[in-house]
Amino acid sequence: MSIILAGAGPGDPELLTIAAMKALENAELVVSDRLVHADILAFAKCEVKIALKTTGRSDPAQDELSEWCLEGLGAGKRVVRLKIGDPFVFGRGGEEVLWYRERGFECQIIPGICSALAGPLEVGIPVTHRGASEQVLICTGRGRNGTYPNIPEYDPARTIVILMGVGRLGELSAMLIKDKQFPSSTPVNVVQSATTPEMKQCMGTLQDIEDKAKQAEVKAPAVITIGGVVDVLRPVDTVRD
Ligand SMILES: C[S@@+](CC[C@H](N)C(=O)[O-])C[C@H]1O[C@@H](n2cnc3c(N)ncnc32)[C@H](O)[C@@H]1O
Repeated sequence: MSIILAGAGPGDPELLTIAAMKALENAELVVSDRLVHADILAFAKCEVKIALKTTGRSDPAQDELSEWCLEGLGAGKRVVRLKIGDPFVFGRGGEEVLWYRERGFECQIIPGICSALAGPLEVGIPVTHRGASEQVLICTGRGRNGTYPNIPEYDPARTIVILMGVGRLGELSAMLIKDKQFPSSTPVNVVQSATTPEMKQCMGTLQDIEDKAKQAEVKAPAVITIGGVVDVLRPVDTVRD
């Protein structure tokens, strides 16, 4: 008996993999959280359980989700645990693999398109671009116990992509300028709900992005992209029909 741990992609159902779609169609129990769009969950033809994963409630919600899956596995069901984006990028997917293994169940893992790459792409930002960036650093804006990411000193050839950081955009920008020698003019994009109908974005620099995000009311879930790549293709229209 095994459980499928599947990535749901960044939001648009068209960006679900065929493997994930088949797993949903064949499942007897799907367990997910509110970050996954209803149109994706609609592929499931079985019971779907959703835990309310909100800031400050992620640990109890995680326990609830895991217990639901365990119950389903105990009842001999084909269980799919669906997670936003890719299950192994800031998705606690690895922790879940270990948790189920301790209880005698192996996970089959289906990758998903990660918001850290799809978010910038959706607003026309290539995270690498010859002559502009040859490295991408993906980090969380909020580490365990609320810590700040340990971003290396400024390198113009490195793109920084931050997940879960929009609520502390001001502090993160100030830290990069003050402690990491980033020029205050470094371009920044913030995109919320990329690939979904609720998508919105704002552009600015490390100096003014906090104000711009407030004006544009850009909130979580959002991807922050920092570096010269933000500007290399502007203007570009990548919106799919
Ligand atoms: C717990 S992390 C999960 C990341 C996920 N595993 C992935 O690969 O995209 C949740 C964060 O992902 C980012 N995120 C996920 N989907 C997004 C989307 N459609 N648009 C913007 N940010 C998104 C946000 O930073 C959000 O706070």
